[in-house]
Amino acid sequence: VDPDSLQDFCVADLNASISINEFPCIPASKVNASDFFFDLSKEGVTNTSNLNSSVTPANVLAFLAINTLGISMNRVDFDLGGLNPPHSHPRATEMGLVAEGSILVGFVTTSNVYYSKVLTLGEVFVIPRGLVHFQKNVGNKKGIVFTSFNSHMPGVVIASTTLFGSQPPMPNEVLTQAFQVDDAVVNSIKSKFGS
Ligand code: GLV
Ligand code: MN
Repeated sequence: VDPDSLQDFCVADLNASISINEFPCIPASKVNASDFFFDLSKEGVTNTSNLNSSVTPANVLAFLAINTLGISMNRVDFDLGGLNPPHSHPRATEMGLVAEGSILVGFVTTSNVYYSKVLTLGEVFVIPRGLVHFQKNVGNKKGIVFTSFNSHMPGVVIASTTLFGSQPPMPNEVLTQAFQVDDAVVNSIKSKFGS
């Protein structure tokens, strides 16, 4: 869903002083074959939080050659029980391929209908643009999912950190009323997300 391109490619200049709907291009004379290849072969570090998962992005910030091409990928690694927590992508539909493990994939529509399935090697899922979704490793070994997006920068809104980890924090009176719980519950969740 990114805008159409008027050129073959536009390898991003992340340091340019101007930005028009993101990044301008480096000069074509500075483009090398290696710009068009990116390594997602390495397992991400999954033990940095209790989620036991890790997302390695190949978006425009990491893979400069996809600038303006309306496409990108992630590699998601899952240790045992690992969770890629509920989140949404404001700018892209997501399609994913399970490369290893048994992965529960779920999403919720704007009508509050929950769809889910456990997928294994070679199976594919789609998450319509903007809908909240997650993946969880429900098997007895590690899991790998490769996801793709129809945007070079899909963006990610993680439900937990957006509401309970913003800086400055969202006021408790908003969160207690929205979730129908008291301050202690809100403070406890906030303390886990640094807000
Ligand atoms: C998975 O949901 C991802 O965003 O890579
Ligand atoms: Mn996603």
